[in-house]
Amino acid sequence: MDMFIVRGGERLSGSVSVSGAKNSALPLMAAAMACEGETTLYSIPDLVDVKTQSQVLGSLGMDVNRDPDGALRLKTVDETSCIADYELVRRMRASVCVLGPLLAKRRMACVSLPGGCNIGDRPIDLHLKGLSALGAQIRVDRGYVIARADRLRGANIFLGGAFGSTVTGTCNVMVAAALAKGTTTIESAACEPEVVDVGNFLNAAGAKIDGLGTPFLTIEGVEQLNGVKHEVIPDRIEAATLMIAAAITGGDVCLKEVRPDHITAVIEKLREIGVTVQLAFPDQPAKKQSVTVRVTQPLRSVDCIALPYPGIPTDVQAQLMSLLACVPGISIVTDKVFPDRFMHASELARMGVNIRRESASAILNGVSRLSGACVMASDLRASAALVLAGLAAEGETVIRRIYHLDRGYECLEEKLISLGAHVERVRDEPQNMPDSLKLTDGESRPSYSELLDALTGPHWNQSVSQQNTESVTASQDPADED
Ligand code: EPU
Repeated sequence: MDMFIVRGGERLSGSVSVSGAKNSALPLMAAAMACEGETTLYSIPDLVDVKTQSQVLGSLGMDVNRDPDGALRLKTVDETSCIADYELVRRMRASVCVLGPLLAKRRMACVSLPGGCNIGDRPIDLHLKGLSALGAQIRVDRGYVIARADRLRGANIFLGGAFGSTVTGTCNVMVAAALAKGTTTIESAACEPEVVDVGNFLNAAGAKIDGLGTPFLTIEGVEQLNGVKHEVIPDRIEAATLMIAAAITGGDVCLKEVRPDHITAVIEKLREIGVTVQLAFPDQPAKKQSVTVRVTQPLRSVDCIALPYPGIPTDVQAQLMSLLACVPGISIVTDKVFPDRFMHASELARMGVNIRRESASAILNGVSRLSGACVMASDLRASAALVLAGLAAEGETVIRRIYHLDRGYECLEEKLISLGAHVERVRDEPQNMPDSLKLTDGESRPSYSELLDALTGPHWNQSVSQQNTESVTASQDPADED
């Protein structure tokens, strides 16, 4: 396993381009299974999750190949298999996106239930409710969803749940309804840009979907979808992460290939915090363009709530928390989409910020400077948040289990390094631990003399006044995300 050593304190500057959206790429690849002939997807990021999805689709009889120019070509060559095995699905929850395409095209599907995960409960009851309404017979047997259908039939479906709609669930039901007989309406459909991207792809392939980007979709079923060429939208979560990287280091960064209209809530929140965000074409937010992020004044603590689109994405909640951890004053961060998505809070506490959990919220007392520590990444976005915290911290931060990052960010470390960050990837082995965090006994903690120095040394008053000891207990070893 690898870990990152981040040396904090560098102000990021320069320009960098944002990659294609992971969360569009994965359902788009699955949707290609519902099409006749070849689909070509452009700007698909080179990620572990994309490779896993390619393997899932390969196991279901699809040829998936990358051209030297990066384009991904997908084509069904064998329709006999309908089984998405646990060994693949457990590695990546988004493989559940094959359920709708399999049912619509092959009339049967056997897909392992993904199970729990570090960001909270991830049921798929809404996916199943939607597909059942279209006429599928579904049961869960020994951990697998087993679904069969004759030709699916259009229906009126309500897809709202306790935490809003479902992104991948809407994609699943939309693909299935596109090939159903008759008209389907989906109420409380997810409005996320990734769902719109999948819908636009399906329409280009011959589907008749109306209302994309709103909670009410009308879908006229068609007999056949045909593979097309499609460019994936830019990754709004990566864009937001890099914007926060600029802000947290007091930097001046120009991000290229951004769709500002996909991250309006994040831009507005950064402005409220005091960060300057300038669009190259402010009158055309729906255009792919450059966005400049710089800090010219002291930042303010704020409250923020992660909500379904167009609210602040839950996938940016952890990164915003890192930023607010570095802004003196009380901030409250709430997640209404995944109310338990706070594993990063206890790791940030290790870096010196006081954070208290209150149901779906974390209450932070930000400090003017975090202190580098050895922390553990628990999921993709938490990993990014800890890297950002490390960039702003005093001294060195070691982030372990960064394989999570490789699943969902294309070249994040290269991009940060190109902006001036000190990020080094090394094997997670005791001899690679930096001296400042070196272990005396093979464990990840400072030496006895360093701790004594911290107790009696000149930094005592400053650090105690900035850091509160009531913070949440730092976790030692968060469970693996599956
Ligand atoms: N939910 C249900 N029932 C369902 C489905 C979802 O109650 O059948 C609940 C979930 O428990 C959650 C909320 O509804 O509280 C939203 O879940 P959703 O189904 O929208 O999540 P998802 O489709 O499984 C996608 C992204 C996630 C992102 C969420 C929310 C992909 C591949 N994944 O997951 O991305 O956090 O939407 O926006 O698109 C990430 O990229 O790091 C990531 C976790």
